[in-house]
Amino acid sequence: MIVFFNGTFIDKAQATVSVDDRGFLFGDGVYEVFRATEGELFAADRHLRRLARGLAVLELARPAALTDAALLAAARRVLDDNALTRGDALVYLQITRGAAGPRAHQFPPAGTPPTVYLAANAFTPPDDVRARGASVVTTPDERWGRCDIKSIQLLPNVLAKQRAVRADAFEAVFVRDGRITEGASANLFAVLGGTLRTHPADHHILPGITREILLEEAEQLGVAVVETAVTPKDLANAEEVFVTSTSADVMPVVRVDGRPVGGGQPGPVAQRLHTALRALRTRPAPAAALRSP
Ligand SMILES: Cc1ncc(COP(=O)(O)O)c(C=O)c1O
Repeated sequence: MIVFFNGTFIDKAQATVSVDDRGFLFGDGVYEVFRATEGELFAADRHLRRLARGLAVLELARPAALTDAALLAAARRVLDDNALTRGDALVYLQITRGAAGPRAHQFPPAGTPPTVYLAANAFTPPDDVRARGASVVTTPDERWGRCDIKSIQLLPNVLAKQRAVRADAFEAVFVRDGRITEGASANLFAVLGGTLRTHPADHHILPGITREILLEEAEQLGVAVVETAVTPKDLANAEEVFVTSTSADVMPVVRVDGRPVGGGQPGPVAQRLHTALRALRTRPAPAAALRSP
């Protein structure tokens, strides 16, 4: 497998990181996951904006050569070199604050080069789960106060997802102060009284790209939307519940903590939004300028 590693394209086996890397020592870095369909990156401009914001908040300066255009060119080359231009693929990008020993919490000396890694993998969307609907479990949200940053520090998410796997569920959804924030790796929506509700894009959730696009699509489709969090009790009474992400798309939820929700069947709003999302993804991207290196 060919990957992009610190400015070069090399075999994945050759891409090795120092034990002094701050990603390894402190979880000091950010990541992005892009979806590619038939070799085309979807909503790349939105992912790049979120990445730039995360880097800025963490005061993590990217190498001067690592422009958005360079990142996109690297992603396309990795897709091409690994014959991933048919069907679906996920492109993973991680940037850490680099390696500088000896270990010290504060930022390393100015000029320490960040570590940049980008790889792509073939991906099969979970359409079989979507057809019957997914189960989720609720779990306390024990994460930090900047969940809006796509940080590589994912320990609470890892533990939550493992709880979901043990319960034979697709996702774990976090509860903070009696309200659902989001899933371990997805945003959550519920339809209540015909209105689509989701947690506001504040510091308690990751502003999902899929979430952002679906809010726009819902408006286009005439579905009423309010960015207000729901409670676990709301979930039990909702007409529909679904989670959304770059890999899961729109995933209807039919069971929460073992109890049926939304009549135990995938609902029409989730279906319409999923269809709209798929149509957008297979349509040529308007931001053609982003595609040239
Ligand atoms: C915590 C969390 N929330 C939401 C999402 C969904 O974001 P996106 O739609 O950009 O994939 C993810 C994606 O991995 C995530 O990790």
